[in-house]
Amino acid sequence: MDFDEIFSSLNQFRVSANSFLSRFEPVALVFIPIFTLLFARIVQSIFHVVFQKGLKSAILEFIMTSVKLVPGVKNYIDSEKQKVVDKLQGSGKSKRDGWSTELPMAGLGVEVINKMKDEKQKDVAWQGKCSGTVYIAGNEQEGHFSLINEACSMFAHTNPLHLDVFQSVVRFEAEVVTMTAALLGSKEKASGGQICGNMTSGGTESILLAVKTSRDYMKVKKGITSPEMIIPVSAHSAYDKAAQYFKIKLWRVPVGPDFRADVKAIKRHINRNTILELGELASTYGICLHVDLCLGGFVLPFARKLGYPIPPFDFSVRGVTSISVDVHKYGLAPKGTSVVLYRDHDIRKHQFVAVTEWTGELYVSPTIAGSRPGGLIAGAWAAMMSLGLEGYLENTRKIMEASKRIEKGVRQIPELFIIGRPDMTIVAFGSDVVDIFEVNDIMSSKGWHLNALQRPNSIHICVTLQHVTVTEDFLKDLSDSVKTVKANPGPINGGLAPIYGAAGKMPDRAMVQDLLVDFMDSSC
Ligand SMILES: *Cc1c(COP(=O)(O)O)cnc(C)c1O
Ligand SMILES: *[C@@H]1O[C@H](CO)[C@@H](O)[C@H](O)[C@H]1NC(C)=O
Repeated sequence: MDFDEIFSSLNQFRVSANSFLSRFEPVALVFIPIFTLLFARIVQSIFHVVFQKGLKSAILEFIMTSVKLVPGVKNYIDSEKQKVVDKLQGSGKSKRDGWSTELPMAGLGVEVINKMKDEKQKDVAWQGKCSGTVYIAGNEQEGHFSLINEACSMFAHTNPLHLDVFQSVVRFEAEVVTMTAALLGSKEKASGGQICGNMTSGGTESILLAVKTSRDYMKVKKGITSPEMIIPVSAHSAYDKAAQYFKIKLWRVPVGPDFRADVKAIKRHINRNTILELGELASTYGICLHVDLCLGGFVLPFARKLGYPIPPFDFSVRGVTSISVDVHKYGLAPKGTSVVLYRDHDIRKHQFVAVTEWTGELYVSPTIAGSRPGGLIAGAWAAMMSLGLEGYLENTRKIMEASKRIEKGVRQIPELFIIGRPDMTIVAFGSDVVDIFEVNDIMSSKGWHLNALQRPNSIHICVTLQHVTVTEDFLKDLSDSVKTVKANPGPINGGLAPIYGAAGKMPDRAMVQDLLVDFMDSSC
């Protein structure tokens, strides 16, 4: 067949197509394809929304948006929302009367310190009463507290951004990272011997960085441009932050009946865009696996040495590519210190940002912050060096014993049940008999600050050295609170139980999110 033949058959096709189309109006020929395209586009966006949110919430969102279009409904919903926000706010607004809104004309000079002492008096008594929050033992004026304060103040004006000036802090930082890595398997052969990392401002920054680094590493290694990440519903909210900041599709999958991550459920969500996910699976699929040891990093390695049965969790597990560990929790360092670790330098490189096209110097920065507080790094180094292995072992023995005591005590309260199997130092409990949030309100009225959880409704205490001497007080108050609620069920004045209860039941999660944002926005 030569070109002439091709041309003549093309020509024949043109003539017959034209005569066929001449039956239609030209206007129809122009508009039908446009409408079809438009229709396809709408169907595609609907599929996209359903895929992103799941069928149930997509339908719900559609219904809610339609309902709000009815005149008056939106105003009604907004005013109801405002009522809840006001209630959450409590008397917060009036408390702000008298707050400074401008600089004092004449400075207060050293007198400012006395003013601050007055303010500090107004904080609630947290000693021994808060779940988590303060991890160091004893009182703020002595012992480990004052040692940390001295270390911090000695280096308060340093900044590791200037590595040529503050050699001391640069060394402290590197040592904190290496010593932490050694607790998490870096010296074991299975780790590959390449573990590296950096210090950050806290667990959230460590997780944000690990996610961003994994995303960029997977982009280079596997060409993934629409990244996805799978986490159990129980994973920390920092992953949502990372997903929102870094445009990653997040799958929150249910946990198993034992409240551990459900490997099967996770496997179902792995696809060619998955960047982060559990050991075996991760290495089979060649994707990243982050282990969030923010809380456990300075407990689990010691608990294992003390003989507690702890499942494998660190770099000795094949497939783990990054770990976050907070030194400012059980590491007993000052607030604002955490470590993010990577399996090797190849991965960590994707954490750094180099800038060559501004008018400043050639710039390369390892973490989110530019200038960073050298004082805190010095504080973290002081904490680790002053305690040493023996110090951490002794602390872990105390908090593990306190946790086991609390777990046992809670099991003896017939109205309560323990959630999951506490391996570490968090004891969570719920009830089928009383409203657990009402129990929480009574506990709050006794000065306790516990954490409310949902799915299932429950509360937890994160046991620290502050609790070692008060476990019996805690159990007594808890058992009394359960009795009070059982005898007198119903909300108490100023209690948050009705709000938690209602927020948990509201099917429109976007509305609960709005509510939280309005609450935060209205507080200043
Ligand atoms: C505390 C914590 C975080 C977040 O850490 P921040 O220091 O509050 O930013 C993340 N994951 C877990 C498990 C934590 O305990
Ligand atoms: C992070 O690691 C890089 C490379 O080792 C190092 O230059 C930098 O000082 C580290 N920064 C921190 C915050 O540890």
